[in-house]
Amino acid sequence: MSARLRLAVAGATGRLGRRIIALGASDAEIVLVAALTREGHAFVGRDAGECAGIPPLGVAIEASPRAAFDVLVDASTPAGTERWLETCSERHVPIVIATTGHDARELAEIERCSRTIPVLKASNLGVGANLLRRMARDLARTLGAGFGVEIVEAHHRGKRDRPSGTSIDLARAVEGADRPRPPIHSLRIGAVVGEHSVHFASDEEELVLSHRALSRDAFARGALRAAKWLTVRGPGLYDMDALLS
Ligand SMILES: NC(=O)c1ccc[n+]([C@@H]2O[C@H](COP(=O)([O-])OP(=O)(O)OC[C@H]3O[C@@H](n4cnc5c(N)ncnc54)[C@H](OP(=O)(O)O)[C@@H]3O)[C@@H](O)[C@H]2O)c1
Repeated sequence: MSARLRLAVAGATGRLGRRIIALGASDAEIVLVAALTREGHAFVGRDAGECAGIPPLGVAIEASPRAAFDVLVDASTPAGTERWLETCSERHVPIVIATTGHDARELAEIERCSRTIPVLKASNLGVGANLLRRMARDLARTLGAGFGVEIVEAHHRGKRDRPSGTSIDLARAVEGADRPRPPIHSLRIGAVVGEHSVHFASDEEELVLSHRALSRDAFARGALRAAKWLTVRGPGLYDMDALLS
């Protein structure tokens, strides 16, 4: 591995990918070596910095990586994950999967690949939303079956999956022996970056835990942190709980 971490970003032309590139460019421990999108994308050949709204980086957006890299961050689509997971498996390189919305077959493939390379998969790379999940799990246990639980999530209109990966993880965290998986209510509206609320209510009182992402940089920063953390791990399937604890 070179002194600076050689980073590849897949989904480089997307909302999250562009922020990962912009923040990565100002991180002294990181050097961007590949900015990847799907074949035929209108931005192929354009400079990654220019696409991310920062000065040129001398790295062109491409559909297939020519450069060697130490870690890949995938912020694309479920089909994109499949493609980049295969590349990382062939090269024996770690992959951070930020993408959400995978089906059962795709999840099984991620699990299979994690037996030979380090994989960190997180539906939410922000610190706050991961702490929300822990708090929701603890509160569900403390309040017990006398309190009903429902989850509300809101995102921008361009979000492709519904419900969000974060809300599915929240629902899994609060379900238990005496509590079924709670319903999730989804809004796709305006430019909302990401909001999640867990409502607990009895007939007498209501308690609401909520998190609002104010900027995609919360996720992008988490992606870079995860990339650094993952490169010194062995094969396995990791999540943000592992990184934060
Ligand atoms: N884990 C987290 O903390 C977190 C936070 C925010 C978002 N996300 C997830 O991250 C993913 C991206 O979100 P976003 O808002 O950035 O979406 P987006 O703006 O739609 O960006 C996705 C980008 O990936 C490109 N792409 C499609 N196929 C590809 C492939 N095979 N290889 C490389 N790039 C490909 C898309 O190009 P086209 O438009 O041409 O298809 C698009 O530019 C979503 O699954 C989202 O839910 C995760």
